[in-house]
Amino acid sequence: MKGVVLAGGLGTRLLPMTRVTNKHLLPVYDRPMIYYPLQQLAHAGIDDILVVTGGDSAGDFLRLLRNGHEFGLEHVRYAYQEGEGGIAEALGLAEHFVGDEPMVVILGDNLFQHPIRGAVEAFVADPEGAMILIKDVDDPERFGVARLEGDRVVEIIEKPTNPPTSYAVTGCYFYDSSVFDIINALEPSKRGELEITDVNSAYIERGSLRHHLVDGWWTDAGTVTSLYRAGTLVAAEHGNAVLRQMRPEGEASNA
Ligand code: G1P
Repeated sequence: MKGVVLAGGLGTRLLPMTRVTNKHLLPVYDRPMIYYPLQQLAHAGIDDILVVTGGDSAGDFLRLLRNGHEFGLEHVRYAYQEGEGGIAEALGLAEHFVGDEPMVVILGDNLFQHPIRGAVEAFVADPEGAMILIKDVDDPERFGVARLEGDRVVEIIEKPTNPPTSYAVTGCYFYDSSVFDIINALEPSKRGELEITDVNSAYIERGSLRHHLVDGWWTDAGTVTSLYRAGTLVAAEHGNAVLRQMRPEGEASNA
């Protein structure tokens, strides 16, 4: 099982904080944002990880994460996304890295209170098709929203004006390697990007999209409000043994 962290984009919703750095390098409470998805993957036993980034600050990821030893990884690999082609385009850059293996993909601005390890184990046990993690939220219109019939996701609508449910599709996705055929056949959306929702919709059409409901909190950190919320949630978790367990070795903490 391979891991991919997507950490590109312009972070325009966080300007001016992102004028001279990449969104995923901004702090969330006591560490850079990208630590959280990396810690999740490392904690789930994924030790072969690709970080896809872009823009002027791409070199800073190498200086920050180095070889990933702090996270208990053998090494971290890096890919560079030219331009702003969207989340699915960024994932397409992982094709040679992933090969025929199943993969877990996390958006670099997504934080989960609890480990995703259970979901990783479920996908490893049955690595065909795709699996998404969904979460009941108060502001579904900000996300991809899942419409369910019975216990199946039958439609995902990206940022709907009138969300049919309050289930946001979180930025943690599990795919078999056929995802690259899907990505290679995608057409750009109206905003000129290859959309991850279109990838997931292709799996719905094939009848091979499963989902898990996230327990504990989940948040993105891509807007001023959600970045602040993420920091507050992490701060409140300081006594949480699991989060502490996911701290990189040797990390200073005086909190
Ligand atoms: C992206 C996805 C969206 C998903 C969200 C999760 O949105 O397009 O479907 O719900 O991540 O964080 P973005 O934050 O890039 O607008």
